[in-house]
Amino acid sequence: MSYFAVDIEYLRKQYRGGVEALSGVSLQVPYGCIFGLIGPNGAGKSTLVKSLLSILRPSQCSGSMLGEPIGKKSVLAKVGYLPEHASFPDYLSGRQVLGYSAGLANLAKPAYRSRADQLLEQVGMTAFAGRPVRTYSKGMKQRIGLAQALVNDPVVVFLDEPTDGVDPEGRMDFKRMIVAMRDEGRTVFVNSHLLAEVEQVADRVAILAKGKIVIHGTVADLTRREARYELKIEGALPTSLVEWCVHKGMEVLENRILLSADSALAVQALIDKLRASLVTICELKEEKFSLEDLFMQVVSQARADAAAAAQGKGAGR
Ligand SMILES: Nc1ncnc2c1ncn2[C@@H]1O[C@H](COP(=O)(O)OP(=O)(O)OP(=O)(O)O)[C@@H](O)[C@H]1O
Ligand SMILES: [Mg+2]
Repeated sequence: MSYFAVDIEYLRKQYRGGVEALSGVSLQVPYGCIFGLIGPNGAGKSTLVKSLLSILRPSQCSGSMLGEPIGKKSVLAKVGYLPEHASFPDYLSGRQVLGYSAGLANLAKPAYRSRADQLLEQVGMTAFAGRPVRTYSKGMKQRIGLAQALVNDPVVVFLDEPTDGVDPEGRMDFKRMIVAMRDEGRTVFVNSHLLAEVEQVADRVAILAKGKIVIHGTVADLTRREARYELKIEGALPTSLVEWCVHKGMEVLENRILLSADSALAVQALIDKLRASLVTICELKEEKFSLEDLFMQVVSQARADAAAAAQGKGAGR
């Protein structure tokens, strides 16, 4: 069995009218992890998920999902999906929405009934399950959306912007529910532009910008790339040491020295230097590089690259 629940070798999607939404994406999602696909509006996140689920036809696609070629319909029985802006017939009750999804998944009624109760409980909707969807708040609709995505006990679940319209308290609940799905052994694929949220739950992330994966890896690896250290000393730094620090690419702000480094080892030389000059060190802090910092950096770089490429094409004409 492959190590990957989703293994996209090459995926390209050009919409009618010429919009190139995905331009040759390659992406691997290991079994049993929470995978966050993040990117700005229009990056191609929903297009990617819809391509995997055969909701739209990719222009070119090779790879596998759950060990079968992408596009094979039988695999969809093992897949759950919460679409972005999910809407359900509003005259149905929450419980009936689950029944409707179970029907689409060809599930036998007795097995599904106890599962529906369990899912309603899991998403905190038991008390409202009999009410029609039209009386639900956005957050309640999302909860029912999450429950219907699990109705067929899927191996892999795709959640497209699951916390869209959900308040901060509800988001905490969603995080717990997503982690619970992973702990039940599912692979959870989450599309989001809420970086801080993804950072808290995802095991692995990929950043998509302008239809291309610009960076991917574990959250720890990506955010560890460039830690920033701040070292506080007693009094002002002697001039000779200011010069040394600046020469080494550090920033000196009165009694604080700031440096970017990929490991704490780089700070040791500074500490040695300060101690040799009898400077007292009061505090050493590691400022984590957040996923948001990385996101802003790679997305603006991708935009600049796309603009430069477009300009190059124009000049070449
Ligand atoms: N049906 C369509 N026809 C033509 N172009 C489309 C269609 N759907 C999406 N696009 C375009 O494809 C690109 C990617 O859109 P997509 O919806 O996949 O992005 P997204 O990352 O999901 O964005 P968001 O964060 O806003 O949900 C955008 O430029 C969008 O305008
Ligand atoms: Mg989308």
